[in-house]
Amino acid sequence: MLQRLSFGSVPPKPHTALRSEQGVLRYEECLTRAGFDGPYTIVYHEHRPHEAQPSEVRHGWEISGARPARALSRHHFRSFEQRFRAGAAVDVRVPLLENDDVVLSVAAPTAEDPVYFVNADADELIFVREGGGLLKTQLGDLRFNAHDYLCLPRGLLHRFVPDSTLAQAWLVIESAGPVAIPRQYRNEIGQLRMDAPYSHRDFRMPDFTGPRDEGLRDVAVKRGNAFFCFRYAHSPLDVVGWDGTYYPLAFSILDFAAKVGLTHLPPSVHATFAMPGAIVCSFVPRLLDFHPLAIPCPYPHSSVDIDEVIYYARGNFTSRQGISAGSISLHPAGIPHGPHPGAYEASIGATRTDELAVMLDCARPLRVTTAALALDDPDYHHSFVAPGGSHSTG
Ligand SMILES: [Fe+2]
Repeated sequence: MLQRLSFGSVPPKPHTALRSEQGVLRYEECLTRAGFDGPYTIVYHEHRPHEAQPSEVRHGWEISGARPARALSRHHFRSFEQRFRAGAAVDVRVPLLENDDVVLSVAAPTAEDPVYFVNADADELIFVREGGGLLKTQLGDLRFNAHDYLCLPRGLLHRFVPDSTLAQAWLVIESAGPVAIPRQYRNEIGQLRMDAPYSHRDFRMPDFTGPRDEGLRDVAVKRGNAFFCFRYAHSPLDVVGWDGTYYPLAFSILDFAAKVGLTHLPPSVHATFAMPGAIVCSFVPRLLDFHPLAIPCPYPHSSVDIDEVIYYARGNFTSRQGISAGSISLHPAGIPHGPHPGAYEASIGATRTDELAVMLDCARPLRVTTAALALDDPDYHHSFVAPGGSHSTG
């Protein structure tokens, strides 16, 4: 949430009667977090919003299957080799890594969602590495493009209409808790600080267009890692107005204003979104450290309580070899990690990087799904050992 928005018809006071010009009563729906203590949006429908009937379950992706025991090892998952079945976003997602806070999946939808979807398990943060399209929600539509993050709060009815002319490659992060702007970027009244790496103007809001009927009546709901379907007698996009702070957002990673230091700054300066148990950082093209003796390449480190995931979007990574767009690395806590052999030394004197990647630092251990193991590069862990036993790499 950035600021309160209001669109369409709303009554002067919450919980009071709103009527159409013909005198027909509208129906209020309060979308709330933390019981009734958190952010909320009040939505006004043409129809009673809670009349959907259970129906046959015909949608939903395979949750994750068996979860093999995890060897403590560095991994490189070649997600670009994932063979997706053709279909809609609601059906083709493939989970790769998970813990009790987050689930990381990849998706490459080839069709628009034939039903609306409500994820009652998680907020979703989607990074669109390739593709684009339209996110249609009860609160309005949001256009998204390659390199966008999409923040989709839990419980919001929506469907995706990907551009049919574009190949899609998405990273989807499901978060059991709310996805938020890191606290340090706000001033005391909640406004983004002037030294934050983005401003209010960088975020795109839904474009509300009033009640609509796309002819669709079915809604798939995910709750407790299972899918359920319901059927409405009317269009679920029957919203005549809304007022609140709870709505989807789009933000291009290329609008992230990276900070650069005299010497190497820790990844936390690239924090972009925060969620319970995890933080998302954006690595974007930028100038590098400007001390004459600076080593711009990240130093080897042991993040002793973090499992670190990096999703590589494009460009050359100064610290890693054998990485392609769509690569996902997992460097778990318990073993140190750092640059590939030679990368540390080779970075001295470099003045800029063209890398583009999303990093997720997770507080709880990540489990590797069977689907992820099928994409695992078996040589990755050992690729950090320098031939002849160099002492300079991590
Ligand atoms: Fe790291």
